[in-house]
Amino acid sequence: MRLLVTGGAGFIGSNFVRHIVNTYPDWQIVNFDKLTYAGNLANLHDVESSDGYSFVQGDIADREAVAKLFSDLAPEAVVNFAAESHVDRSILDASAFIETNIKGTQVLLEAARQCPVERFVQVSTDEVYGALGEEGVFTEQSPLQPNSPYAASKTAADVLCMAYRKTYDIPVVITRSSNNYGPYQFPEKLIPLMIRNALSGKKLPVYGQGRQVRDWLFVDDNCRAIHEVLLKGRPGEVYNIGGDCERRNIEIVELICDILASKVDEPRSFRELITFIEDPRGAAHDFRYALDCSKLQRELGWKPSVGLEEGLERTVDWYLENQAWVESVITGEYQEYYQKVYGGR
Ligand code: NAD
Ligand code: DAU
Repeated sequence: MRLLVTGGAGFIGSNFVRHIVNTYPDWQIVNFDKLTYAGNLANLHDVESSDGYSFVQGDIADREAVAKLFSDLAPEAVVNFAAESHVDRSILDASAFIETNIKGTQVLLEAARQCPVERFVQVSTDEVYGALGEEGVFTEQSPLQPNSPYAASKTAADVLCMAYRKTYDIPVVITRSSNNYGPYQFPEKLIPLMIRNALSGKKLPVYGQGRQVRDWLFVDDNCRAIHEVLLKGRPGEVYNIGGDCERRNIEIVELICDILASKVDEPRSFRELITFIEDPRGAAHDFRYALDCSKLQRELGWKPSVGLEEGLERTVDWYLENQAWVESVITGEYQEYYQKVYGGR
């Protein structure tokens, strides 16, 4: 198998590359990544010298670079993780989200049209469905009602994928997953940000009252699901991938505080650091996500295997052991970004 993975130096992409390299030592896997602030080759230090694996730095929105990549590799399958992925950044400035998430996806689809592939897996998100109230779940048939610029850009990419499937018969399969967490997540997202801030004695900024609900999925479970979809997903279909682990944000933050308190030498009350701040997402803050994943379970036999308490403990352990990684991936740009979202709140 010649597999092209885009965005393989990011959080989920690097976990997926590691999973595939370890599962199929004889596959040829090319990781194509622009290395934005969120992409780090350090995430792949343990697989970079594996025989079948190689890295190419490039931008999925660069038509010529992508055309060359396809003609050099002639990939049999593509898994597109490459994206701008953070909602708060999309609210500050949506431009890069339009360029990468929409134009970049179209460039990849066009390349797959010129140089046919057997599978094109588009890694999408539950945010395309919009927000739920206290009740209900999204199925693959739920209407697309994105609220943030990030969600809108991912929705546009999904719709383009479906149009390319209908118009040119590109064998596109879309996965829509809930909130991932685990090793190598950039510390702008809720869980790693709270762990880092707590360990540095900084405030733990919870938006609003922390009442929003997310469905948490351990990243390895998502990688297994994407693997199944790559092998056996039906072209033209969408598969929801959820963790069956709904929690309010405040519950997650409190749980992180308690796990951390049980791990550090000097007992500390990390909960005292919790600070409720004015919500920087405003009306674009989706209240609740929840997914019906019965299609994936029925058709491909997948279900999540890591519960929240176990997954969070493994995540906290990883961040405790890899504090140097955290400090190495954040730069002056991170401090500027942090100031823009949290400063003054
Ligand atoms: P991430 O931000 O950690 O990583 C994104 C990667 O894409 C980085 O390595 C970055 O360098 C690369 N990239 C960005 N722009 C690029 C471009 N123009 N060309 C090539 N590479 C580029 O993101 P993540 O959290 O790992 O998410 C991966 C995918 O999964 C995204 O498509 C995201 O929308 C989707 N997703 C994420 C979650 C989640 O909880 N993190 C949940 C559902 C779906
Ligand atoms: O649902 C899937 C989506 O999950 C993915 O498509 C996105 O790429 C991924 O970033 C994630 O989006 P969220 O916006 O849900 O994740 P985030 O970790 O940024 O925030 C989770 C919740 O925590 C959300 O309700 C906002 C809140 N939050 C977040 C941060 C960073 C806080 O209260 N404080 C914070 O500092």
